[in-house]
Amino acid sequence: AKLLVLHGPNLNLLGTREPEVYGRTTLAQIDADLAQRAQSAGHAIESLQSNAEHVLVERIQAARTDGTAFALINPAGFTHTSVALRDALAAVALPFIEVHLSNPHAREPFRRTSYFSDIAVGVVAGFGAASYRLALDAALQRLTPTDT
Ligand code: DQA
Repeated sequence: AKLLVLHGPNLNLLGTREPEVYGRTTLAQIDADLAQRAQSAGHAIESLQSNAEHVLVERIQAARTDGTAFALINPAGFTHTSVALRDALAAVALPFIEVHLSNPHAREPFRRTSYFSDIAVGVVAGFGAASYRLALDAALQRLTPTDT
């Protein structure tokens, strides 16, 4: 199947951005790890990072017709603000897992609100770069169900 990974604003700075909160792994390392794991499981994967809300909205809209089966999305700061990104996901009815490196519930109160969690298949948060890997494992499990 075709998987899409979307990273929101400032995640291009991973590795140097508040490493005590977000770790030292770069976005390129995260994407390479996901690509290797998805491909060895027989799936296609594409990653996109953008600081611009409209770029993310347009990529989600394109998923309506490009055969994307499932998405992993870290909306970053847009988690707590973007009705438009949420509406795009609802419009396309794209199943997705919401991913966060940090645990937003253990931080400032404004991070406790997510415009995505209630329409997500699930949420993985708080495990640093491993959050993405755990979310991918869950996605692969859904795409290729096994008895184990
Ligand atoms: C984040 C958490 C958000 O609150 C924050 O705005 C981010 C990153 C995370 O992955 O922990 O940019 O989504």
